Amino acid sequence: MVKIAPSLLAANYLKIGDEIARMRDAGADWLHFDVMDGMFVPNISFGQGILKAAAGSGMLPCDAHLMIEKPERYIEEFASAGAKVITVHAEATNHLNRVLNQIRECGCLAGVALNPATSPECLRYVLGDFDLALVMTVNPGFGGQKMIPAAVEKIAEIDGMLRQAGIHAEIEVDGGVNESNAPMLIAKGATVLVAGSALFRAADAASFIRSVKK
Ligand code: DX5
Ligand code: ZN
Repeated sequence: MVKIAPSLLAANYLKIGDEIARMRDAGADWLHFDVMDGMFVPNISFGQGILKAAAGSGMLPCDAHLMIEKPERYIEEFASAGAKVITVHAEATNHLNRVLNQIRECGCLAGVALNPATSPECLRYVLGDFDLALVMTVNPGFGGQKMIPAAVEKIAEIDGMLRQAGIHAEIEVDGGVNESNAPMLIAKGATVLVAGSALFRAADAASFIRSVKK
């Protein structure tokens, strides 16, 4: 069944603990952490300190999406903060294979994220080195944007590439996910859906998650 990963970026920051508990109680599977450095993306968010507090609460497994330049500098810190998944952008490092191995050596699941304009071909020579491919369906940096249809086409392409190689990996979709487009994303092969503004603003988070998982 598809997993739902609420993006903490859209939470009420004055009540982070309550917001995480609200998502856990609503049936979320992972907690998605959008880490932004103001260089790889034009925005700054939060870092390993907040993740450590959330992971330490034991409420939900933490899924760290590092939108930072040269992510190899921070893998150990996010791993020791308690991340279950660490995802780096293919565009942010010169040494993708090395950083994916570094993530696994730290005992975490390794993810590769692709910006909307990045070809899925860059995954071909690291198949087997990652546990998750993150398809960005908006330009990273901000929540609340509209999904870019061309980026959605990559989901099925990556699914085909994985099947052909006989490799299992999660396909996570991030950006503009809502109740109406979720069935289409799942049909194309998405196995983890990140939801920020649509989920945190929903009148009933539990019914949002139930309807997406149905
Ligand atoms: C964008 C982030 C997303 C974002 C999703 O840079 O990676 O995780 O929070 O937010 P929504 O669901 O509002 O598009
Ligand atoms: Zn994200």
